[in-house]
Amino acid sequence: MLFSSSFVSAAFMLFSSVTALPQPENGELASRTTGLCAPGSYLYNATTCAFCPAGSSCDGKSGVAQPCGSGHYQPSVNSTACLSCDSGHFQPSFYQNAKGANNTIPCPAGSYQPYGAQAFCYGAPKGRFQGLPGQATVCGTCCGWAAPLVNNNISPVNCNGTTPNAWPNSGDGCISSNTTCVRAASCGQLANGTCPADTFSG
Ligand SMILES: *[C@@H]1O[C@H](CO)[C@@H](O)[C@H](O)[C@H]1NC(C)=O
Ligand SMILES: *[C@@H]1O[C@H](CO)[C@@H](O)[C@H](O)[C@H]1NC(C)=O
Ligand SMILES: *[C@@H]1O[C@H](CO)[C@@H](O)[C@H](O)[C@H]1NC(C)=O
Ligand SMILES: *[C@@H]1O[C@H](CO)[C@@H](O)[C@H](O)[C@H]1NC(C)=O
Ligand SMILES: *[C@@H]1O[C@H](CO)[C@@H](O)[C@H](O)[C@H]1NC(C)=O
Ligand SMILES: *[C@@H]1O[C@H](CO)[C@@H](O)[C@H](O)[C@H]1NC(C)=O
Repeated sequence: MLFSSSFVSAAFMLFSSVTALPQPENGELASRTTGLCAPGSYLYNATTCAFCPAGSSCDGKSGVAQPCGSGHYQPSVNSTACLSCDSGHFQPSFYQNAKGANNTIPCPAGSYQPYGAQAFCYGAPKGRFQGLPGQATVCGTCCGWAAPLVNNNISPVNCNGTTPNAWPNSGDGCISSNTTCVRAASCGQLANGTCPADTFSG
């Protein structure tokens, strides 16, 4: 019994890995009438079209379900095209079961992405910070405040008066020599993402 069920399982896996197309999901099969499958479906076998799964697009012409590539996603079945991630979002899109991604991911706090259709977010570098998820821009620090991490600064640190850094061109650390700027009492980002006044924002 044990040998028999292991054999069946191994044979199924072999079959699955040979067929590159996604398996049709329950209740999502269309009969192939003439020639091509309809847009939003793909050729599952010689006689059957299957509705395009989430995470893929099916233009109908090629007959295949094309997994969404990196920076792209598709939450719906029956689609003819994948969607591009908006700025402030990303999708690395590793394929699972021959499907692409069905969602777009907000950049975590401490990172940002200015462009659409991207596979990653930039970490907020030295002198910059980003306290909110899903943002396209990054904030600079204020006079008297610094963002010292190489990457992933979520909020600026207060240099506490005696060691203001040079605004607006640095902010990557607290320094003791430069007192040419007027120290800011606070350096908070607004809840709607607006950067503190008088800082670099880009
Ligand atoms: C195609 O797949 C459908 C659904 O699994 C099945 O009913 C049909 O017999 C298959 N046809 C061929 C030619 O394999
Ligand atoms: C996909 O398209 C088929 C054919 O038009 C339809 O029957 C089915 O309900 C659709 N599925 C969804 C989830 O919209
Ligand atoms: C989206 O993809 C994930 C990972 O493959 C899966 O667990 C989830 O069920 C999918 N959701 C939809 C709505 O297809
Ligand atoms: C710097 O200021 C912050 C708040 O403005 C305070 O929490 C912190 O203790 C201060 N650090 C030092 C070393 O004075
Ligand atoms: C001090 O700040 C000014 C004005 O931002 C800047 O031009 C200058 O390079 C800074 N000097 C040092 C040593 O950081
Ligand atoms: C963010 O909020 C501030 C304060 O309420 C407001 O002045 C500003 O216009 C808002 N910015 C955006 C882009 O909504």
